[in-house]
Amino acid sequence: MLGGIFAWVSLLFEPSAFQVPLIQPQPRLKAEDSTALKPTSTNVPWQDIITGDYGHPPKLKIHDRESIVKWSWERKDVTQDLPPRIRSGLYGRANDATEMKWMRDGKSVAAIYSSLIVVVNHTPDIPSIDKKITFAVNRDTDVLWNAHSLEPLPGDRLAVATTGQRAWDGILVYNMSSALPLEDEPPILQKVEGLRAIHAMIWDEEGQMLWACGTNVAADGSDPEPAYGVIQGYPFDNQTGLLRDDPAFKFTFPEYWDIDTEWGHGYSWWSGPHDLVPVPNERIFLVSNDIGVQTFDIATMSFIHGFQETIDKYMPGFECTSTDRHGMNRQGEWEELPYSDLKGFSLAPDGAFIYTQSLWKLFRGNHTSLVVDGVRTQLMEGNEIYRSRFFGDIDGWPKPKT
Ligand SMILES: *[C@@H]1O[C@H](CO)[C@@H](O)[C@H](O)[C@H]1NC(C)=O
Ligand SMILES: *[C@@H]1O[C@H](CO)[C@@H](O)[C@H](O)[C@H]1NC(C)=O
Ligand SMILES: *[C@@H]1O[C@H](CO)[C@@H](O)[C@H](O)[C@H]1NC(C)=O
Repeated sequence: MLGGIFAWVSLLFEPSAFQVPLIQPQPRLKAEDSTALKPTSTNVPWQDIITGDYGHPPKLKIHDRESIVKWSWERKDVTQDLPPRIRSGLYGRANDATEMKWMRDGKSVAAIYSSLIVVVNHTPDIPSIDKKITFAVNRDTDVLWNAHSLEPLPGDRLAVATTGQRAWDGILVYNMSSALPLEDEPPILQKVEGLRAIHAMIWDEEGQMLWACGTNVAADGSDPEPAYGVIQGYPFDNQTGLLRDDPAFKFTFPEYWDIDTEWGHGYSWWSGPHDLVPVPNERIFLVSNDIGVQTFDIATMSFIHGFQETIDKYMPGFECTSTDRHGMNRQGEWEELPYSDLKGFSLAPDGAFIYTQSLWKLFRGNHTSLVVDGVRTQLMEGNEIYRSRFFGDIDGWPKPKT
């Protein structure tokens, strides 16, 4: 946590910091020179959280740290004309609210909602265009049906992870320009193959690349060998507008795990990465999987902290969300997995963090945890949640500038 604190405190001495916090700094973060604390803005990005509530229909919600919903989006909010396949995706049977991202200075939300990959306006101050769909693809195809993540790239491009098990799975890139009309089959600008079961992606403005986490072979056990987690950076070529597959930025986890403790003896799936989360103002990712969460250092392309150390350093105050996260592993030994199944989490520059841990032997949780100054509270209780994210541009990890 220390790095995070110092990074934040040092921010206080830079003029740009004054555009940001209104949240009272946590006591332990207060700078010695209290005159440095002159918050001026009421629009604190990390006060807002976006959460996907699974259901029929699913619902995207932007709420605060008290669970007060300020804005939401669901299919009944859509009144514009839609091409047939986009309409059927919006009204699909899928209850999913799998991914949701802050974009375009907060004026857009990108999401995986029901059977759609969708970008919608978030302009509560301009009601006439608020909640309008500006880009969409129907997910109900052989390639996209299991898509779990998306991320904006420079030039109004949108990267979508196919999250499949085969060698041709990976990332599809689309033109999400709102100047283009919605269409049933928007053209694919680029297809990047080779990374299976991608569950998270994050743009790296400083490194000008897209990072993704997935597995090296099929995560579902359909290949004859165990699947290892992979974190891979794809440099973005500003001239051609293409992502490049560069082995120099590919990191394969040193070990693999079965997930018998949770799912029963001889379960075919291997543990795969769930979320890839930047530490604000640092060149560091935390990566979660079915077992725990580890710390990845970009400069050395290596893990620098294991499960317990990562929690102690970056997520102090984390609490396991239920008392039943244990069982017998494949070797017949009793195992506790308190840090398992973090499907979505994010760290705010002020030291607060949120996380969703699916309930044991289920795919989603029933609340989002918020930890402020080491104290955990539960948000959106009773919602069926896969992911929540801070709704803002995380310091040091801005969305693409161009
Ligand atoms: C995306 O579409 C917009 C609007 O037609 C166009 O200006 C832009 O060049 C397109 N971008 C790419 C990468 O094709
Ligand atoms: C990428 O190219 C665009 C358009 O040519 C330019 O505006 C932008 O500054 C470039 N970005 C970088 C990081 O080179
Ligand atoms: C969430 O699930 C836990 C574990 O099953 C249960 O104890 C708790 O009552 C549930 N909470 C809500 C709000 O449904």
